[in-house]
Amino acid sequence: MTSSTSNERITVEYRILHKVSQILQKPGDLVEILQNTMKALTEFEGLKVENKAGVFLADNNQKVLKLLTTIGDFSQEFIDKEQIIPFGDCLCGRAAASGELLMSESCDTDSRHERTFSDMTPHGHYIVPLKSFDNLVGILFLYTDTHPTWYQHSQEVLLSIGGLIANTIERKQIDEELNAHRNNLEDIVASRTQDLVKSKEQYRKLNNQIQMIREEEKSRLSREVHDQLGQSLTALKMDTIHIDKNLPADKADLKNQVKSMISTIDETIKSVQHIATELRPPILDAFGICEAIAWQSNEYKKRHGLEFDLNCLQDHVDIDKNLQTALFRIFQEAVTNILRHANASRVQVRMSREKETLTFVIADNGVGIKEKDIDNPESLGLIGIKERVRPWDGQVNFESSPGKGTMLIITLLLKIS
Ligand SMILES: Nc1ncnc2c1ncn2[C@@H]1O[C@H](COP(=O)(O)OP(=O)(O)O)[C@@H](O)[C@H]1O
Ligand SMILES: [Mg+2]
Repeated sequence: MTSSTSNERITVEYRILHKVSQILQKPGDLVEILQNTMKALTEFEGLKVENKAGVFLADNNQKVLKLLTTIGDFSQEFIDKEQIIPFGDCLCGRAAASGELLMSESCDTDSRHERTFSDMTPHGHYIVPLKSFDNLVGILFLYTDTHPTWYQHSQEVLLSIGGLIANTIERKQIDEELNAHRNNLEDIVASRTQDLVKSKEQYRKLNNQIQMIREEEKSRLSREVHDQLGQSLTALKMDTIHIDKNLPADKADLKNQVKSMISTIDETIKSVQHIATELRPPILDAFGICEAIAWQSNEYKKRHGLEFDLNCLQDHVDIDKNLQTALFRIFQEAVTNILRHANASRVQVRMSREKETLTFVIADNGVGIKEKDIDNPESLGLIGIKERVRPWDGQVNFESSPGKGTMLIITLLLKIS
């Protein structure tokens, strides 16, 4: 071989390797990539391969080859018979068992060519192991004319190509596995998320129901304490006054005792009224949220000396009873927080309506709330506030800076369709 033909050969080898590696690097379906690779090889004239070839994948556990894809004109009989080939069987099985490249001059004379087909025409073979390092990934079989003048370097080139194909198959298999894992993971995440959303919804419904039951219970208790106990005590007081009046003037001791009874009864009546209003102020049901807030503010002022600026709904607004209860409880929770945490002297309360949106603001002049407290899952009081307005699509926000007080801003929709 002259040096110029040797150069030509190297150029062609380089071109075919370049082309094959380009095809193998393309993204897409493995079968399509392999078919394109085989077609490219038929264009490599020095190899003299026909447009007839195929790829098996190796199952190294079962020690069999499984037909993956072919190009060219194969009979159905061939395709059916060649689906599975045990290692060691025929040419391809032999190449799989040895891991070495096989060349066969003719199917008619080569005793290793054990498998025959009714439409078999004389041909030769390149059987190329597809190996990634020592791992047999599959077998590439190429058809050639019988007794080809074996291109002396084709073995090396074909082995290199086999290595490239093996790498691609491995990469695709890993990709597939990864994808399967990823899809599986996504499915798991989706189903867990769904479960979570469902149990969150259930929890909310339950929480709402518990709140409603608690309010009903408090209402009932408040009424019973106020009416039953209140009436009995009033009757008791009347009777005691009657006794007092009818006691002879000389029974000073008894008279004093009865007077003391009357004042005890008075205190008990006050305490009963207090308990009843604490449970649920009757003013809330009788006069509505603004009057209830005004009354409650006055109580806080009397008890804790906290000053209130109230500005509640200048025009009449029809507010759902449950929402009034929710707003009142939020007010109580907010002021309790101010008393416990804010070290404030003044509270501004504003409730206003703009079309369907109700805004409720409670602002203090205390130390300010910390960012971490606002979103803390352990701030159960604040979570309770959020949960209470959720049925009205309520949003709860805080504005605060250290030493500048805390502003709790609630907006919600009066009518939820
Ligand atoms: N008006 C406020 N000013 C300052 N800090 C506040 C105020 N309201 C709440 N906080 C802070 O937010 C935290 C969470 O409040 P909350 O959920 O009601 O829990 P709790 O009152 O039981 O501590 C409080 O512990 C407090 O540190
Ligand atoms: Mg609290």
